Amino acid sequence: MNEFHVSLSGGSTPKIVFDFLAENYHDEIDWSSVYFYWGDERCVPPEDADSNYKMTKAHLLSKIEMPAENIFRIKGEDDPEAEAVRYAEVLKKQLPTANGMPQFDLVILGMGGDGHTASIFPNEIALWDADSYCAVATHPESGQKRVGLTGEIINNAKTVAFLVTGADKANKVEEIIGQKAGYEKYPASRVSPKSGELLWFLDRDAAAGLG
Ligand code: 6PG
Repeated sequence: MNEFHVSLSGGSTPKIVFDFLAENYHDEIDWSSVYFYWGDERCVPPEDADSNYKMTKAHLLSKIEMPAENIFRIKGEDDPEAEAVRYAEVLKKQLPTANGMPQFDLVILGMGGDGHTASIFPNEIALWDADSYCAVATHPESGQKRVGLTGEIINNAKTVAFLVTGADKANKVEEIIGQKAGYEKYPASRVSPKSGELLWFLDRDAAAGLG
């Protein structure tokens, strides 16, 4: 199997998918050909309850045979600005190139109830167009720093898949997919891979507004 480079989302939604993969594809996938990255990470140590890496390790990494060298976590414990620079270099070094920049085979994204994705929040939507592959964001309520991918590398992926669940997301899903007035203010609306391969995986509650 060729190498498969995947950027994982954080938060709580991915737990469903990670648990399913660990339970049903433990032996079906040659994990030595899969390479994991993160779309964003909270600026906390990897053992912190807020860490996306910790969540992924608990629900997936600790249950599959993936070589440690295939796992490229964002180092939340380090200086955010320095880590954003370092991680961008990791992507340049590890990923194949297409359209003159690193290309993921798959970027998995979540979406917040405010329409944020990765860690680009509506009040910092300018980060989407940053000229670096990674940027430092700030959670609008908690002030927590995050390091994450920016728009150009997300939209350079072969495939982008949103995983969105819960009734609290339904309005934004409807506004963004339906391109309702003002939808462009939500960072999730900027996800538009050049490949055209954009998938939405929704539960019934999150899809309630789609008719
Ligand atoms: C994060 C995520 C973020 C997440 C959304 C949805 O680090 O929080 O990357 O973008 O995907 O906030 O989070 P839930 O899945 O917890 O609803």
